Amino acid sequence: MRFLITAGPTREPLDPVRYLSNRSSGKMGYAIATAAAEAGHQVVLISGPVNLPAPAGVTIHSIQTAQQMWETTRELLRDEAPDIAILAAAVADYRPKFQHDQKIKKHQDSLTLELERTPDILGSMRQPFNFSGLLVGFAAETENLIANAMDKLQRKHCDLIIANDVSGSDTGFDTDQNEVILCFPDGRAETLPRQSKHDLARNLIQRLTALAFAIDK
Ligand code: CTP
Ligand code: CA
Repeated sequence: MRFLITAGPTREPLDPVRYLSNRSSGKMGYAIATAAAEAGHQVVLISGPVNLPAPAGVTIHSIQTAQQMWETTRELLRDEAPDIAILAAAVADYRPKFQHDQKIKKHQDSLTLELERTPDILGSMRQPFNFSGLLVGFAAETENLIANAMDKLQRKHCDLIIANDVSGSDTGFDTDQNEVILCFPDGRAETLPRQSKHDLARNLIQRLTALAFAIDK
């Protein structure tokens, strides 16, 4: 099968030397890309800036901003026609409205930044991108994990949301282990035991390929 995967953070520039970003390491998305390639699938990975080696057998498209990730995703959906899309990137929700050409100087005692929304890549997959394959998103939450994940599942028309409690320090962002809850469109929620991101990735690839066959995506 053909997989499209997004991973890592995005960086939203403020001036030539500064940006807004987040703590995503890209480990979960890279582990999923690795597991898919090891299982013999064809994998394209759209990656924000991370400190991880390129997984063997995976085609990587490196991007910086949410806008670039959105455009690259649109192009690869058209060119690669993937069967399964897994959007694991921690895309910045806001970017500086104005990008300064020169380094901002500390002339004032305080500085207010005006931010604007970035495009929602997962939310664009069905419309306007017309992706009809198996659509999998992540939900990183610090509260009301299942309710928030189910809400995202419906709003973004996903087949599955992998929900992740990022309130603690040992699972979620920039860790090697993860504990997730799978949220399905029929309202079912299944907790997977805490395990390494690599074991979880292998487990997820098996389930997703089975799911894609089962619902004939
Ligand atoms: N996502 C995306 N593009 C964005 C924001 C999020 O593709 N601009 C994807 C993420 O890759 C993830 C899912 O949407 O698969 C949920 O991301 P999350 O940050 O949990 O949800 P948001 O919709 O951004 O809502 P909020 O941050 O307000 O909870
Ligand atoms: Ca978000």
